[in-house]
Amino acid sequence: MAEKREYVVMFPFMAQGHIIPFLALAIHIEKTRNYKITFVNTPLNIKKLRSSLPPNSSIQLLEIPFNSCDHGLPPNTENCDVVPYQCVIRLLEASASLGTIFKDLIEDIIQQQDGQLPLCIIGDIFFGWMAGIAQELGVFHAVFSGAGGFGLACYYSIWLNLPHKGVKADDHFLLPDFQEASKIQFTQLPITMSKADGKDSWSVFHGKYLPEWANSSGILFNTVEEFDHVGLTYFKRKLGTPVWPVGPILLSIENRARVGKEAGITPEFCKAWLDTKPQNSVLYVSFGSMNTISSSQMMQLAKALEVSGKNFIWVVRPPIGFEINSEFKAEEWLPEGFEERIRESKKGLVVHKWAPQLEILSHKSTSAFLSHCGWNSVLESLGHGVPLIGWAMAAEQFFNVKFLVEDVGVCVEVARGKTCEVKHEDIAAKIELVMSDCVKGKEMRRKASKVGEMIKNAMKDEKGFKGSSVKAMDDFFNAARTMRGQNDQKQQKRGDSKLERVKKGLICTEQQVKNVG
Ligand SMILES: *[C@@H]1O[C@H](CO)[C@@H](O)[C@H](O)[C@H]1NC(C)=O
Ligand SMILES: *[C@@H]1O[C@H](CO)[C@@H](O)[C@H](O)[C@H]1NC(C)=O
Repeated sequence: MAEKREYVVMFPFMAQGHIIPFLALAIHIEKTRNYKITFVNTPLNIKKLRSSLPPNSSIQLLEIPFNSCDHGLPPNTENCDVVPYQCVIRLLEASASLGTIFKDLIEDIIQQQDGQLPLCIIGDIFFGWMAGIAQELGVFHAVFSGAGGFGLACYYSIWLNLPHKGVKADDHFLLPDFQEASKIQFTQLPITMSKADGKDSWSVFHGKYLPEWANSSGILFNTVEEFDHVGLTYFKRKLGTPVWPVGPILLSIENRARVGKEAGITPEFCKAWLDTKPQNSVLYVSFGSMNTISSSQMMQLAKALEVSGKNFIWVVRPPIGFEINSEFKAEEWLPEGFEERIRESKKGLVVHKWAPQLEILSHKSTSAFLSHCGWNSVLESLGHGVPLIGWAMAAEQFFNVKFLVEDVGVCVEVARGKTCEVKHEDIAAKIELVMSDCVKGKEMRRKASKVGEMIKNAMKDEKGFKGSSVKAMDDFFNAARTMRGQNDQKQQKRGDSKLERVKKGLICTEQQVKNVG
């Protein structure tokens, strides 16, 4: 019998911040391993994904039935992006109810594949329930985290231990099972976490599903072993499963355009502008596609950019309280005459919507990145040796900043969250610190460039040299093949499962074919 082509099933949580890293991983696996990929999601997300795939991709998109109204959500809301903030937890709970349907879906796929099991199922960090289902099916299962090891370790530990219960807002606390993280300030907690008391729906959800990671075959991380080992070690210790740091896996510039990021400027224009600036002289400012700051923070940031006198590219979005994708009203939200002044002085570019981030970060004129420190942005920045000025907004971003400041030394923190008060003098001072030739600034740039080398090396796959992330991906697929081999043997011994009946059907068919032959 000819060897059949292996296939991998992937299912991210229904949020752009999860779907895009999964898509990047799917494209990477397809390109480097030649496995077939089945990418599962709810109907409206699949519809949107169709146009995001590279034209030559053979990734198969598969709808899992879902009706938001059945889960107390508004009609046609299947993505975190469109769900009102207070309903995000309901979308999470709804996703956890998809277990039975997901199992049926996989069994159908197995039948279509003449009984061949998937090589592995890769599920979301929020889909702990999937580990048990994969066990029942006898399929290798990994959780894939688009977040980094350290940030996710803090997130995981805090949800499971709630060590901040009773801690005052101006105080700090330690993580009982992750002492390496040292002190966490209460102000570093995202809102839902800061309010958690063990009885709220977020604590209940995470308390139920995060421990189930221990039943998966291991965790894939979009990160690099050499600089994120503290957080990775936490998971090895906590779960007793392997972790595979396989990053950075990022969408290419072309694929990024396909996922519907409407560019405010073309990459060519951006590059031409950067070409006119001296080396290491430009500050890039962006809070990612999902976040924005308050109008008073925006005003202070604008003033800081102006008084600092640095060159800058700033991706602006309407401030909090306004539809994030609506028209940007510079006359209302920026200091009077700001855009004209910076246009005349040629000091800055104010970009509406989205800028070609990779082009900017890879340009030699770019010196620092003022960022919300979402993990993708961190990898892109450090991957090009660009130090960060951290202003976390949500989720594990606060812990990413802590890690980059305290452990890696490639970041200074400028502000915390969407409501904190900021003064333009303070922001300008931090910008000066990172971009100037003072000892601290030079040291940060030196470290960032060293981390940049680590990140580049991790993905190298050359004659005689395999980077740590390439090796980790090899290890991951080897582990999946090993488990499959063992399960095939077990299946043959047992011979009574549904899968076995399917297989028998196959054997029968082959015999008939032979007879006819
Ligand atoms: C698709 O085309 C791109 C650009 O030519 C190439 O880099 C990639 O490897 C191709 N992917 C597949 C799956 O053939
Ligand atoms: C792992 O699976 C076993 C068997 O299905 C179950 O009893 C156990 O509770 C699960 N462990 C966790 C941590 O969820």
